Amino acid sequence: MAYQVEGKGTPVVLLHGFCEDHKIWEEFQQDLREEPHQVILIDLPGAGASEVVEGLTIDGMAQRVHALLESLGAGPAVLIGHSMGGYVGLAFARLFPEALLGLGLFHSHPYSDEEEKKALRQKSVEFIQRQGHILFVKQMIPGLFAGNFARSNAFLLEKLIYRAAKFPSEGIIAAQRAMMARMDETDTLRNIEVPVLFIVGKQDDTIPADKNMAQTHLPAVASIHILEKAGHMGHFEARKATQRYVRQFVAFCEEKSQS
Ligand code: MLT
Repeated sequence: MAYQVEGKGTPVVLLHGFCEDHKIWEEFQQDLREEPHQVILIDLPGAGASEVVEGLTIDGMAQRVHALLESLGAGPAVLIGHSMGGYVGLAFARLFPEALLGLGLFHSHPYSDEEEKKALRQKSVEFIQRQGHILFVKQMIPGLFAGNFARSNAFLLEKLIYRAAKFPSEGIIAAQRAMMARMDETDTLRNIEVPVLFIVGKQDDTIPADKNMAQTHLPAVASIHILEKAGHMGHFEARKATQRYVRQFVAFCEEKSQS
């Protein structure tokens, strides 16, 4: 897996979502780098500069993130996962609880796919196999943003589409299949022993509001932020606020681990 490490201190791993790579955090992470943190940015398999992995699973992604942290000699980390990155964070929490200081679910949730969602994913896989993925990402990416933001940030949308268009189709298909087969992590969230951060977009069409809100009572310690005007992309749609939430959350996890 391709990755980037900057700074020293508490490891903070930023995990991107579907059809994204580490560059999604380019501007977002600058704020974290002003703190004594080791900021770790990863391209999950099949995205950005990372190779496609056949038979990829969400657990397999979590295992790779863990192996990377071990190879860096990093201590327990705060994982912040955007959407699919949050699914990876939840699998990490179940598989490697001792390596976790806190988990951020940034427009993400613990529930497995319902049959209807699985069928939609299967359709998108078949669409990509027939047509290639460029048309797919062109259609998908604008829908991640709240309408007003999308209308006034055409250049950003073009940039994200351009980047995702360069990923291999096989990487996008592998990620879609991995999400389709992922297990339900409700119990992971219910039993988690570290603090959990929730960032919820009120206008998120990808994760319905009922799912988003229902999960927030599961962990014992949670920090919950609701973004009134954001969709699924709060790291762009409400950058300053979400940077502050993540910074405060990391500080809270550090404090909590020392008490
Ligand atoms: C993402 O943004 O990572 C995906 O939309 C998540 C999903 O499809 O469940």
